[in-house]
Amino acid sequence: MIGRLNHVALAVPDIAAASRLYREALGAEVSAPVPLPEHGVTTVFVTLPNTKIELLEPLGADSPIAKFLERAPDGGMHHVCYEVDDIIAARDTLTAHGARVIGSGEPKIGAHGKPVLFLHPKDFFGTLIEIEQA
Ligand code: CO
Repeated sequence: MIGRLNHVALAVPDIAAASRLYREALGAEVSAPVPLPEHGVTTVFVTLPNTKIELLEPLGADSPIAKFLERAPDGGMHHVCYEVDDIIAARDTLTAHGARVIGSGEPKIGAHGKPVLFLHPKDFFGTLIEIEQA
């Protein structure tokens, strides 16, 4: 069921500074910032040869990233995103194995315009997992 690693997401306190670092010091291809108010984040994608890095900065009052940065003010790894062919089939298999989907259980449209779901980190050994329909 699991496909490619789509991205690793890093929460950062200053997305402009993080973008500059990835562009200038690492020589990476870095996108313009994309605000996603329905997810409470601004995102930047760093394209690597084999995957992407998603930089996340809080957006709005009740951003899920704001809480994360309270605990880790320097930033840190926030989630990993795996691709699946069929997000509904993947969700049903995962929940049958005891994994909990965060929120309503229905996919939302993510940063790439594709349906995504998040799985509870307590069910994945402390790592927040995003699945995205490829
Ligand atoms: Co993501």
